[in-house]
Amino acid sequence: MSVIASDTLLFFILNLFITGGAGFIGSNFVRMAISRGHNVLNFDALTYAGKRENHSDLEGKSNYLFVKGNICDEEAVEKVFKKQFSGKGFDVVINFAAESHVDRSIHAARIFSETNVLGTATMLEAARAADVPMFIQISTDEVYGSLGSVGKFERHSPLNPSSPYSSSKTGADLIALSFYHTWGYDVRITRCTNNYGAYQFPEKFIPTIITRALHRKSIPVFGDGLQIRDWIYVNDHCEGIFKVIENGKPAHVYLFGGSSERTNLDLSRTILKTLAHKTNVPEENLLKLITHVTDRPGHDRRYAMDWTSSKQELDWEPTTSFEIGIEHTVDWYLSNRTFWEGNSK
Ligand SMILES: NC(=O)c1ccc[n+]([C@@H]2O[C@H](COP(=O)([O-])OP(=O)(O)OC[C@H]3O[C@@H](n4cnc5c(N)ncnc54)[C@H](O)[C@@H]3O)[C@@H](O)[C@H]2O)c1
Repeated sequence: MSVIASDTLLFFILNLFITGGAGFIGSNFVRMAISRGHNVLNFDALTYAGKRENHSDLEGKSNYLFVKGNICDEEAVEKVFKKQFSGKGFDVVINFAAESHVDRSIHAARIFSETNVLGTATMLEAARAADVPMFIQISTDEVYGSLGSVGKFERHSPLNPSSPYSSSKTGADLIALSFYHTWGYDVRITRCTNNYGAYQFPEKFIPTIITRALHRKSIPVFGDGLQIRDWIYVNDHCEGIFKVIENGKPAHVYLFGGSSERTNLDLSRTILKTLAHKTNVPEENLLKLITHVTDRPGHDRRYAMDWTSSKQELDWEPTTSFEIGIEHTVDWYLSNRTFWEGNSK
């Protein structure tokens, strides 16, 4: 790490190896990292979920480099680890790359095991061989399975994943932690609740609601719509990852949540009302688009996160309220139609 002292601040310019930086959370993280002066290598296979155009304004800058490649491809990964910024190798790997959609994992489990488990193992081996001092594995609250009507997930809650997606993410976490136990390699894990914000692919629930409502198509809500998720604004998650780099410890698991538990039905109504207000359409015209459809097999009922350990150990807490975050998100989809038109279902 290069240490730079200014009059009032001591801060670090990091060389970051980011995988999956063309996807939803990765895109936001890349932007935050560049805005803070860090050097970013973005390694992404550009699956259906990744868009290189998310950072077209950064291409050609000396502190940003995009390389197309697959995290399962040992040779390609090893080659990328030889790249440098300012004559130095990488300080941190942040592994966002994943197959991330639960519904897809139910119908095509194999690619989830491949990317999420094998890909993570490939990245860990290459990062350790290249002497990268720190590896952050981006994981999910879904590794803990489903909650009843009370209680919250805690760091040491039992791992009990339900879907092929969450099972593959659990496998990835365990392989990552094994690199600490086996080699003393500095691996840190983050587990976060459902993110929302800019750049999320239209197949996910919030963009589906916004984009289908704008086309006056029905909004599919699984089963009774009373499944509960805890929603966090994506920038709060990204800030937490920076805090893990600054204040975290090897082999620790850090939990992030938005403390904004909502049923899927409530969430749909809030978004539709926000959208109605912003587009001058009567609320009832959008609310009537909500359509209950057959529930997802094995659908988890409730997730909620106790992130007090991250407040105590990282000095992190979410700062964007659900209402403000939803406003920003709806505004972003209204002003960035090229991002989603053609991809919305
Ligand atoms: N979205 C959420 O609410 C949420 C919550 C908690 C954790 N996470 C985790 O955060 C990470 C990012 O999630 P997201 O929502 O941004 O996902 P996303 O699907 O939007 O993006 C995934 C990115 O990874 C890339 N990718 C996929 N397979 C690859 C491969 N084999 N090699 C290289 N790149 C590949 C894709 O092209 C895409 O750019 C994932 O690991 C996910 O499990 C997501």
